[in-house]
Amino acid sequence: MFKYRQKLTMYMGKRILVTGALGQIGTELVTALRNVHGYDAVIPTDVRENDDCRVLNVLDLEGIDYLVREENVSEIYHLAALLSATGEKNPELCWDINVVGLENVVEIAKKYDCRLFSPSSIAVFGPDCPKIAPQVTPLNPATIYGKTKVVGEQMAITSGIDMRGIRYPGLVSYKAPAGGGTTDYAVEIFHAALKDGHYDCFVREDTRLPMMYMDDAIRATLELMDIPMEKLGAARGGYNIAGCSFTAKELVGSIQRHLPDFTCTFTPDIRQNYADSWPDEIEDEVARLEWGWKPEFDLDKMVDTMIKGLKG
Ligand SMILES: NC(=O)c1ccc[n+]([C@@H]2O[C@H](COP(=O)([O-])OP(=O)(O)OC[C@H]3O[C@@H](n4cnc5c(N)ncnc54)[C@H](O)[C@@H]3O)[C@@H](O)[C@H]2O)c1
Repeated sequence: MFKYRQKLTMYMGKRILVTGALGQIGTELVTALRNVHGYDAVIPTDVRENDDCRVLNVLDLEGIDYLVREENVSEIYHLAALLSATGEKNPELCWDINVVGLENVVEIAKKYDCRLFSPSSIAVFGPDCPKIAPQVTPLNPATIYGKTKVVGEQMAITSGIDMRGIRYPGLVSYKAPAGGGTTDYAVEIFHAALKDGHYDCFVREDTRLPMMYMDDAIRATLELMDIPMEKLGAARGGYNIAGCSFTAKELVGSIQRHLPDFTCTFTPDIRQNYADSWPDEIEDEVARLEWGWKPEFDLDKMVDTMIKGLKG
């Protein structure tokens, strides 16, 4: 069957399945993949119904099997997940979607010889990680979400398939809402600044976290998936990549360059605890060496792009 499928792939070109395609990353990754491989090559799916994609619950093993077989899928971008803040409120559901859902996708990827991208997160790091997180360090996350991401990274190494991932920092973008993560304040703040001229931030002003503008994250994803497998080492389940690190106060200052009357108060909630358990910055030498990773957006460039994009 594999030989037949490989021949079909050569004839038809890549067939790419995206799970969780309606989320913050999927909304932009689907467009980027279609720009490279053609509109029809990409099959967006999500558990939510929407005219732009097909319904697929990653807990439905038979459903994934059917779609991959029927559509001759050769590559999967698995974005379906519960993020940190939502995950901590529903730990069992978080485990189910993030771990059992991934196990299902891995099983089908193995069965049909698909390549697989499955994102990790800076949430794999715990309080014992140095403030500038190295690629290799003990992974003792404080959140259930972080634990699910550690399992995902390990699966990439043990699965026996071509499976890769990136430890995305907090992602900042304007095309789709942020999906219930601890770093969502760095997205919400732009909407509030433009609409109300004020934001009440749920982390302290001195909270420094690794962040990244979405364009950098999408480019990193495509670049990593383009590299021949033999060039990738033991970090392939979750590469550290750095974008820009900033405190909430520095973010406010950068926004005030555009909106001098913008004000921000700081009322930390439970998400402060998750943020405190994560590093301030990311060390990304391994990604730079193995596949040439290099960020393009610093804080001010990201803020300029966000404000321009939201103003339309
Ligand atoms: N956005 C970030 O800042 C960030 C940072 C680090 C890692 N990540 C990782 O990137 C991936 C995508 O994140 P995102 O920000 O796009 O998340 P998101 O919450 O915006 O989107 C996730 C999507 O998954 C869908 N989904 C939920 N349960 C599902 C199920 N059972 N079956 C199918 N689909 C389901 C949701 O409807 C949603 O559209 C996740 O693995 C996340 O952990 C994101």
